[in-house]
Amino acid sequence: MSELGRQIGIERRVALVTGASRGIGLAIATRLAAEGFHVVGTATTSEGAAVLGAALGASGQGAVLRVEAQASVDALYAALEAGPGLPAVLVNNAGVTRDNLLLRMKEDEWQAVVETNLGGLYRVVKPALRAMMKARFGRIVNLSSVVARMGNAGQTNYVASKAGIEGFTRSLAQELASRAITVNAVAPGFIETDMTAALTESQAAQMMERIPLGRMGSAEEVAHAVAFLVSDAAGYITGATIPVNGGLYMA
Ligand SMILES: NC(=O)c1ccc[n+]([C@@H]2O[C@H](COP(=O)([O-])OP(=O)(O)OC[C@H]3O[C@@H](n4cnc5c(N)ncnc54)[C@H](OP(=O)(O)O)[C@@H]3O)[C@@H](O)[C@H]2O)c1
Repeated sequence: MSELGRQIGIERRVALVTGASRGIGLAIATRLAAEGFHVVGTATTSEGAAVLGAALGASGQGAVLRVEAQASVDALYAALEAGPGLPAVLVNNAGVTRDNLLLRMKEDEWQAVVETNLGGLYRVVKPALRAMMKARFGRIVNLSSVVARMGNAGQTNYVASKAGIEGFTRSLAQELASRAITVNAVAPGFIETDMTAALTESQAAQMMERIPLGRMGSAEEVAHAVAFLVSDAAGYITGATIPVNGGLYMA
């Protein structure tokens, strides 16, 4: 058993990864499964959860979750308690965009993004805390974005949610540090996934010119940073936001 397993008193290391059906979340789920975690990855539909479950095989399972709905979060945690157990590792990756200039932004575009990205964090993290505190161990990693610090025209809703995630991360890190629970964020830059596939060629070309490393990042490169933060080796890092952005923003 690893040091992690010993500390938490479990043999099976349960990691919950939200939004794991594709993109960065799928890369994180696959990576943590390869490192020996029992990964519970979530999708918004039962079809997505089934595909994910098949992909994870013996090293995990798929589950349905809509982070904006409290009943959905409650059902997931009930299933975790009845099944593999509550997670020692929680990766809050689920996120959405509804881009528009603020002048034209409809209230539902604002609400959908803030309630999913930021409200979802509140709903998913809270029920995980009691077991982590009792075990005096836990790893929470939240997916932010480079735009949380840079800002981005057309994304006031998304940027507000991601900046909120970074503040949430620092505050919760201070609340939980005495129990050896670490809370960190990873802030990806321009990563090849469905989310960035929506950009036009000229938008993508413009963005590329601003990236010192001259290319988009891969979901696996983001997963690598998450895997480090949940590892035993990262036990002295908390309240941090790790950039994975090719140098796009260096502050
Ligand atoms: N791609 C980038 O360049 C980039 C850059 C910076 C930050 N990020 C952040 O990284 C994270 C992953 O991004 P991505 O590009 O991999 O996204 P993506 O390809 O669009 O995938 C989004 C994931 O979130 C799930 N999801 C969507 N709405 C949800 C909801 N209401 N409740 C629960 N799950 C929901 C999706 O499930 P379904 O498949 O069932 O819809 C999917 O698994 C996000 O937080 C994003 O903001 C991405």
